[in-house]
Amino acid sequence: MNLTKIIIGNWKMNGSSSDGLNQVKKIAENVTNAKVCHKIVICPPFTLLREMEPILSHAGISIGGQDCHFSTNGPYTGDISAEMLVDQGCKFVILGHSERRVAYSENDQKVRMKANEAIRSGLNVIVCVGEDQFHRNSGKALDFVSSQIDASLPDVFSDHQLIIAYEPVWAIGFGRTPSLIEIQEMHEMIESKVKSANIKKIYGGSVTKDNAREIMSNPAVDGVLVGGASLKCKSFWPIIEAANEI
Ligand code: PGA
Repeated sequence: MNLTKIIIGNWKMNGSSSDGLNQVKKIAENVTNAKVCHKIVICPPFTLLREMEPILSHAGISIGGQDCHFSTNGPYTGDISAEMLVDQGCKFVILGHSERRVAYSENDQKVRMKANEAIRSGLNVIVCVGEDQFHRNSGKALDFVSSQIDASLPDVFSDHQLIIAYEPVWAIGFGRTPSLIEIQEMHEMIESKVKSANIKKIYGGSVTKDNAREIMSNPAVDGVLVGGASLKCKSFWPIIEAANEI
């Protein structure tokens, strides 16, 4: 069994130059000293990519973007292309996060177009899926996520280029998580749809140092996508340590 986990920090719209760099320096130092063998990725705001990249890559940590456009370049004020992320040293990009699906009306088709462009540019893509409270309560969570999987994944990719993050919308930022059985059930459904055990399936939504170990101990869970708890070394490092203890 491959016990290597992937732990991804999603900083969202948080992090100043001074505090952000301070935090990643501490994380990088811990990762180096502890000889962590798990894959760690940090996705800071675009403004911090350039400064953070050398610090992280020196410790074997990858850096990623939180979104990209589906076009290579052009008149898209405020947007960032996948090639620009590569140019900043990114190896990964998060796509279809529920905050973007909701606040920017990103539908599955748009997520797929972005994923295609990101793969074409050489990035590994982290495609987020997850049901809202309504679909969970009405017993339709599996069907809902299944349809997202059908429509949001890139058309052509190698297994190692795709990570699927199951992030129930009702769990993100609310301190609530599905039961371990519900997470496992969802991950197994995703694996049966993509027909490959080599595509990593990670869980996200209120992951903290208190639940990370239990969640990652499940062999169906290849890692975690961490929001709030990834912002500070003191809350992110114990999650990485938890993976080391499994
Ligand atoms: P959270 O966010 O860990 O703060 O719940 C997770 C995410 O949105 O990726």
